[in-house]
Amino acid sequence: MGDPRLLRVAQPVAASAFDSDALHLLVHDLLDTMHAAEGAGLAAPQIGVDLQVVVFGTDAPDAPPNPRYPDAPAVPLTVLINPTITPLDDAQEEGWEGCLSVPGLRASVPRFARIRYTAADLYGDPIVRSVSGFHARVVQHEVDHLLGKLYPTRVRDFSRFGFTEALFPQRDAVKSV
Ligand code: NI
Repeated sequence: MGDPRLLRVAQPVAASAFDSDALHLLVHDLLDTMHAAEGAGLAAPQIGVDLQVVVFGTDAPDAPPNPRYPDAPAVPLTVLINPTITPLDDAQEEGWEGCLSVPGLRASVPRFARIRYTAADLYGDPIVRSVSGFHARVVQHEVDHLLGKLYPTRVRDFSRFGFTEALFPQRDAVKSV
């Protein structure tokens, strides 16, 4: 947080770049970085790359819980390129978020409860999903990175924004942000 590269609106990936070595390398790097940091998702701007590419989710439905989000349901491992989000209705819900670009902190952030998202995959094939809950939250958080937005700018109740260790003193699992 504070790096100007996190505040840019990311560039779309050109059609000619789908399935290219460079795009495969970028996605590989994003997945490696996300796994090494035990993140729930990661966007290209977070590793300094000005492109509309995000990754999120876990490898398999029976994968162990993410230690940073131990109560979160499994989300399929997904690569989204040039994603767009449409809320399915006006309903929003609050939920805890952290961010690998904002280490040590958590906040309760309002997000649309139900969304439809569209994107391309690594090969340029379309992805269209309607999702809710944690899956919808992760996608909204990651797509925000492509708009140059970090979650603290979405916080409404600043009494629920603070250091992970202060907010969750009893929960060892969320201390290693
Ligand atoms: Ni983030």
